Amino acid sequence: MTVVALVGTQWGDEGKGKITDVLASKADVVARYQGGNNAGHTVVVGDDTYKLHLIPSGILYGGTTCLIGNGVVVDPKVLCEEIEYLHRAGISTANLFVSERAHVIMPYHRVLDQLEEAQRTLKIGTTGRGIGPAYVDKFMRMGVRMLDLKSQESLEKAIDQVLPMKNQVLQKVYDHPGFTRDELVKEYLVYAETIRPLLADTSLVIHQARQEGKGVLLEGAQGTLLDVDHGTYPFVTSSNPTAGGAAPGVGLGPNHIDQVIGVVKAYTTRVGEGPFVSELKDATGDLIRQRGREYGTTTGRPRRCGWFDAVMVRYSVRVNGLTGLALTLLDVLDALEDIQVCVAYEYRGERLEHFPSDLDVLKECKPIYETLPGWQGDTTEVKGFEDLPAQAKAYLAFLEEQVGCPIQIVSVGPRRDQTMLLNPIF
Ligand code: IMP
Repeated sequence: MTVVALVGTQWGDEGKGKITDVLASKADVVARYQGGNNAGHTVVVGDDTYKLHLIPSGILYGGTTCLIGNGVVVDPKVLCEEIEYLHRAGISTANLFVSERAHVIMPYHRVLDQLEEAQRTLKIGTTGRGIGPAYVDKFMRMGVRMLDLKSQESLEKAIDQVLPMKNQVLQKVYDHPGFTRDELVKEYLVYAETIRPLLADTSLVIHQARQEGKGVLLEGAQGTLLDVDHGTYPFVTSSNPTAGGAAPGVGLGPNHIDQVIGVVKAYTTRVGEGPFVSELKDATGDLIRQRGREYGTTTGRPRRCGWFDAVMVRYSVRVNGLTGLALTLLDVLDALEDIQVCVAYEYRGERLEHFPSDLDVLKECKPIYETLPGWQGDTTEVKGFEDLPAQAKAYLAFLEEQVGCPIQIVSVGPRRDQTMLLNPIF
């Protein structure tokens, strides 16, 4: 019986989709616990590439139960589209369940996300999917929940509670025409037809699985540095991708989480705005972007690229209580002669070992690098850790020592068979 939380240790896009997919072959249940379709997971199975935003990538294994937990904000339009996309690809969604308690993204959330972003002087660079506004309504206690999709009556009642207020803001602040109750109800009742059979008390499903001794994987979206509490606020998402978010996000006691695995890239990327100490705005940065295909799955935006930041990952080890690391995209560094690792920051002449809370400090931090020799060889077909080039092994050992956490998985390509499991997780 094992419950494993899988979290992003950087700014998202660490390859959690692929690692989830690999671990899902051993897990019986995979559950998302926060975020929404701002996430984007790319999974390669044989010659096929799947892109998922909402449904856990465990769905690609027939026997795995996939849950969208109560902590997720669900856009029913996207959920229906993904179900259809999977069915077209011949993949069953018979084992997919959605928490009745999860909050629903409404069209006014998407519109407000975009209008609010346009209004901000300090741009966050949101994905514009309505994630933040949906969480705002949840915490304002005026959200529409999946439960409300159960009948026309309950949906109308929920929308009536909130729509007049939303329309006032849309019309008076943003000069937007707003929405009518009837158009929203009409659209959402269509989605409800597909979604109603999937609704469940997903907390109960997880508890039962645990009691039966099954393996449960709790899949985080985004990353630690995008966490609303622990990330680079305000350039963050509006949920808790850190491991602490997993328990309330699925309805499980925190003492029931046995392992916390942090997914970490062999370098660093960031989408959107905000300080990035080890950013490379040069040809090496371009090379990493090109070799790592660093363009957003959700928005297509080119990602900012830089060296591995051990200060940041050390911080992630701490705030998530990581028990192990899954290191991805090691192969992207195959071509480099030298590799740098940011081991500390310099702030106004002072050496900082710990990630600062204050963005004004972070903005001024300069990276202190240690340089390691590259291996300049193809790692993409290496099957066992021992067969990696000596410099690659030395690089991994250096990272482990710097961040204080053992590496349990190494990924050298997008395919399932390009994964080395150093220690069994389930
Ligand atoms: P939001 O989550 O759409 O509100 O966007 C807030 C910030 O989080 C922006 O900088 C986004 O680019 C970033 N973000 C949200 N989801 C992801 C993700 O899955 N990967 C990387 N960045 C993300």
